[in-house]
Amino acid sequence: MSENHKKVYAAPSKIQDLAIINVFDLEKEAAGLIPKGGFDYISGASGEEYTKKMNITSFKHKSIIPRVLANVEKPDTATTILGHDIPAPIIMAPIAAHGLAHETKEVGTAKGVSAFGTIMSISAYSGASFAEIEAGLNGSPRWFQIYMSKDDQLNKDILDEAKADGATAIILTADATLSGNRERDMRNQFVYPFGMPIVSRYLTGSGKDMSLNNIYAQSKQKISPKDVEFLVDYSGLPVIVKGIQAPEDALIAIGAGASAIWVSNHGGRQLDEAPGSFEMLPEIAAVVQKRVPIIFDSGIRRGEHIFKALASGADIVAIGRPALFGLALGGWKGVRSVFDYFQTDLTRVMQLAGTQDIEHIKRTSLHEQK
Ligand SMILES: Cc1cc2nc3c(=O)[nH]c(=O)nc-3n(C[C@H](O)[C@H](O)[C@H](O)COP(=O)(O)O)c2cc1C
Repeated sequence: MSENHKKVYAAPSKIQDLAIINVFDLEKEAAGLIPKGGFDYISGASGEEYTKKMNITSFKHKSIIPRVLANVEKPDTATTILGHDIPAPIIMAPIAAHGLAHETKEVGTAKGVSAFGTIMSISAYSGASFAEIEAGLNGSPRWFQIYMSKDDQLNKDILDEAKADGATAIILTADATLSGNRERDMRNQFVYPFGMPIVSRYLTGSGKDMSLNNIYAQSKQKISPKDVEFLVDYSGLPVIVKGIQAPEDALIAIGAGASAIWVSNHGGRQLDEAPGSFEMLPEIAAVVQKRVPIIFDSGIRRGEHIFKALASGADIVAIGRPALFGLALGGWKGVRSVFDYFQTDLTRVMQLAGTQDIEHIKRTSLHEQK
């Protein structure tokens, strides 16, 4: 980011409902609104951004078979995950620094997510404190995503705060022990224009004017099954391991006490030339064998994608970039509009695929393209 950007970061501020045709359009609109360094940080991925592209392309490798005479009307998208009833199988993914997209930061996202009625994932790299985010959540459910410190006492302090804030699960993001090779950020010399109150205790600064590389380097690199065990024992909460792409790692995480598996490649932001996340989902579901729920993300842009993920072994999906573009364009109302869009789109796909409810989607087979 240039010196100019460092001084004033002019995040969008409008609050309005959005009429969404598709979320690709939202990204184009947001590009004209969010300052370049912030937009590239959100939209960008690592290396050649091949994996980011494959996250969407890989959905095309399987098709949904239209079903007729299916006796279906008003499909029901409601479901349950780790004890929470949610109106649709969609939750908010943990994302750092929402303040890049809108001046209301994570508070705006939290308000939109809670207005829709689903679960907010709070990133350890949030640009707002737990207390600030609560103003948007207003008591609605939240999971806390931890990036661990190298210092276990600080990890305990963070977990104590997350529990006091009312987190009902801990997400351990395990695929980001270093920053991916984010070329757009390097070109823009991007640094965060504000601090990260939850993790500033283990950084050399507040997070403000620091690069992602620097922040990741100060977090813990050597993550092992012992860390999952520690989080389970210390927090007493369900622990979800996020960033699983290999079936073997799903088994290791479950062996260490994970209560759920989060299949994700971080939106293509970490290891480039990894497969599209959807490509790995069936193999992971095959070894998990429904022992624990599976959350899926990376590339969800349409109702068809949600349907395909659920038909391939996921229980719910998480929305990442599209929610931030909704936040940029319409604040909390924009976020709610994005979640409403996904629910409406999924409902249409369910009707045309002859599936009455979420369990029905999970029993549906996709067509393997020859
Ligand atoms: C701007 C941005 C920041 C992110 N920050 C985090 C984070 O702090 N913690 C985390 O676990 N994942 C983070 N992610 C990854 C998301 O949780 C999710 O895996 C990803 O957005 C899915 O890809 P998609 O948005 O392209 O569908 C981030 C993603 C983006 C786009």
